[in-house]
Amino acid sequence: MVPSSPPSERHLVLVGMMGSGKTSVGRLVARRLGRAFLDSDEQVEARTGRTVREIFEVDGEATFRALEADVLADALARPEPAVIAAAGGVVLDADNRRRLRDQATVVWLHAEPEVLAARVRSGDHRPLLTHDPLAVLERMETARAPLYREVADHVVDTGGAPVDELVESVLEVAR
Ligand code: S3P
Repeated sequence: MVPSSPPSERHLVLVGMMGSGKTSVGRLVARRLGRAFLDSDEQVEARTGRTVREIFEVDGEATFRALEADVLADALARPEPAVIAAAGGVVLDADNRRRLRDQATVVWLHAEPEVLAARVRSGDHRPLLTHDPLAVLERMETARAPLYREVADHVVDTGGAPVDELVESVLEVAR
């Protein structure tokens, strides 16, 4: 059996749907823990010099998913434990799920689609939410909830709570 490192020495990864607060919460959690903060979408954009929307529109979703998997693998390979906001779709890929289970402490920021739809903005990194975001988020919740559950060591039900409360909840469960 491969010995697993204590939670404090592992990467802390936030997963969950678009609008669940992974980036804003993750950034503050990283600051509190004195760790580097990495955001999957920002890394894809920095690496390619293109927006997520451009990649979806020009090259298609499969190309984006491959880039998403690469940046996740690279983030998890960093020796210093970091806080990572993983893009909402990383759990769709079985290798990504295995990496998350093996290499990180994973917190699922869970919120109902209605809460997410009220909060989320489409923007340049969310081409999938351009039309009828609530319907899209409802379909995603059905398809992805079991996958988030599969990788999560902890679940934080956000219920639309303010960011600073969520930061405390994440620090509490991931201690
Ligand atoms: C996606 C989530 C987005 C971004 C892309 C696709 C998804 O990231 O990667 O638009 O499939 O859930 P965030 O979860 O950071 O918004």
